Amino acid sequence: MKVLLVSPEVSPLSKTGGLGDVAGALPQALRQVGVDARVLCPLYGFIDPEPLGKTRQAGSIRLRIGGAARRAKVIETKLPATDVPLYLLQHKRSFDRKGIYSDANGDFTDNDERFLLLAQSALALPSAINWTPDVLHLHDWTVALTPACLNALPSGDARRQWASVLTIHNLMHQGVFPKTVLDKSELPHEFYNANGLEHNGCLNMLKGGIHHATKITTVSPTYSREIQEEPFAHGLQKSLKHRAADLIGIINGIDCAQWDPNTDRSLIRNYSIPDVEVGKTACKKDLLETLGLPQEEKRPLFFVVSRLDQQKGLDLLANVLPKLISDHDAAFALLGSGDPLLESTYKSISRENPDRVAAVIGFDEKLARKLFAGGDFLVVPSRFEPCGLTQLYAMRYGTIPVVRETGGLADTVTPWRPGKRSATGIVYEGMGEWELFLALEQALKVYRSQKTFSALRRNGMQRDSSWEPSAKYYAKTYSWAVEQRLKTIREEEDLKP
Ligand code: ADP
Ligand code: GLC
Repeated sequence: MKVLLVSPEVSPLSKTGGLGDVAGALPQALRQVGVDARVLCPLYGFIDPEPLGKTRQAGSIRLRIGGAARRAKVIETKLPATDVPLYLLQHKRSFDRKGIYSDANGDFTDNDERFLLLAQSALALPSAINWTPDVLHLHDWTVALTPACLNALPSGDARRQWASVLTIHNLMHQGVFPKTVLDKSELPHEFYNANGLEHNGCLNMLKGGIHHATKITTVSPTYSREIQEEPFAHGLQKSLKHRAADLIGIINGIDCAQWDPNTDRSLIRNYSIPDVEVGKTACKKDLLETLGLPQEEKRPLFFVVSRLDQQKGLDLLANVLPKLISDHDAAFALLGSGDPLLESTYKSISRENPDRVAAVIGFDEKLARKLFAGGDFLVVPSRFEPCGLTQLYAMRYGTIPVVRETGGLADTVTPWRPGKRSATGIVYEGMGEWELFLALEQALKVYRSQKTFSALRRNGMQRDSSWEPSAKYYAKTYSWAVEQRLKTIREEEDLKP
């Protein structure tokens, strides 16, 4: 089975969130289960060439966006420290920038053209590198028009046989543009309808993908059910229900070699289950020093590592945080960036409580790792969470997640209840601040019982969050997609006069 994964971000080269992590780790796991998985991603201006090692220009691609010719180079290399072939799309005008989707001035105004280029390159790359895939595996809205591009190929074109799998990582981001983008895409006008690319009078790239892909996956079983209802469907309920038979929830894994407290170079001391208490205490001391918080190692430390976005429910947390630290002997740290209002809210809580609260605004992978290792409780109060990776990293590092029961959070954290031996975290229902506050108090109760606290910690560290089972499930999904695609093509041939 030969599969080209196409993603706007791939860790460790480019990442704004979990999509980058998935695009970096899944292909390695796929290769281990026998899939010839390769990755196509843009060559952004900020990518550090050093970890790339040997690169070569594998070919070039000629495309047309809105009638104008575009030529992009394909730089071939390997995903750092792996055997995964990586093709970097070099088109300076589109990608030689400091951000993936945006910069300090907001979203790039030419995102339609930039990502049309990426979406169309998926079809053009294989002949440039002399390799024919069975499946194009597209990740999120930026490349969601690729399945429509495949379906628009003339019937004699051999590429029509390629199946497409669209993975929805986050339904909130759909790639909505004015109808005029249809002309830039050069897709047939009949694709622009309610069962295709059109939504509320605009061109909706993700919706186009949902209607045109052979199979659709999303990143947890619970989210695959949630998105068939509003408000989780973000307006696309009808489309998702229409494709329900082809919609599969496959839980994300993590790269257990890259995220291992026993080898993580960001930590002052490495540890594993037998020496977790000693290891985490050393990491907590180091973390408190880094954050400028007092060396009160016995004080429970809650923390967040997140994009600051409405999705994540961090406005709710900001509202209960002052009460948490005034009612209890607890500390809190936030690492995140995004919404300026949330940034300033957390900064001001930290200014008012400098001995208890630290807020670091920015994106800092090393500090994130120190938090997973040195913190006691990761808080994830998301309004919705397709999968979520931070709770998986937390558990692997012996940190207890406090999460809302939604999406992948519900699928990956086993809730604590008195007497429940397999628990790995605190899981709470309801959207309100009060429910969140009670969950944080429950965490403090667990903290006070040394036996329960260590049991949860160890259970989390023992949890298998590896990619292998999910990679096997993707491999099966690819086979189903290929079968289905060939059947569709045969049916089309039979219908020909
Ligand atoms: P999402 O993809 O919705 O942002 P995930 O939990 O799936 O949420 O993935 C987030 C990823 O981004 C994790 O690897 C997390 O550690 C990382 N991350 C988020 N914010 C930051 C930050 N400010 N600094 C460093 N890493 C971050
Ligand atoms: C998205 C989701 C997150 C998920 C990640 C990787 O950004 O918000 O829940 O873990 O993609 O699939």
